[in-house]
Formats: sequence, structure tokens, C-alpha cells
Amino acid sequence: MYGVATFYHFFTLKPQGDHNCIVCMGTACYVKRAAEIVAALQKEFGVAPGETTTDGRLSVATARCLGSCGLAPVLVLDGMVLPRNTGNHAGTNPRTFGVG
Ligand code: FES
Repeated sequence: MYGVATFYHFFTLKPQGDHNCIVCMGTACYVKRAAEIVAALQKEFGVAPGETTTDGRLSVATARCLGSCGLAPVLVLDGMVLPRNTGNHAGTNPRTFGVG
């Protein structure tokens, strides 16, 4: 059981936050500067990929490709795709996450 739970990228043994944000770091998103989204999330919320904010409101993760490369860079917030995001747009606005 432990092997299965730790093999798949989207399974986790850590408690998750109220909101879940996944930033695609696949090739199409990476070349469209997805790393800037991750940096903006770290700056705004103080949380790195694989972590949850100390108040338990937001968990951040990265993925290799979410299958929406034409919309790159892609951010998924609570299961909703937020296409063509950058670190300066809605994807990293605290109100988008219901935080702050
Ligand atoms: S590389 Fe990001 S959706 Fe495919």
C-alpha cells in the first residue's frame, strides 16, 4: 500500500491545504515561463512546491504536463484550469485562492 501511495505523483501522505494549486512545469509551460508562477507563489504565500502554508489554506504542487499545452502556461486551482497565467496575473492573486 505504501509503495502505491508514494509511487504516484498526485498521491500524498501529507495533509493538504483547503485550496490546492498545481503549476505545470512541462516543456510547453516551462518555455512560457511557468517557473515565474512558482516563484510568485513562493513570494506571495511563502510556500514551495510540495508544501502547504502554515495556516493550512494552500498547498502547492508541480506537474510535468497537464495535457493542456496549447493553454500554456497552465495553473490548476482546486481542479479548475487557469490558462495562460504568469506570475503577475490572477493565478497568484491571494483573492483567487481565497487566502489573504
Ligand atoms: S506542458 Fe503544461 S500542459 Fe502540457
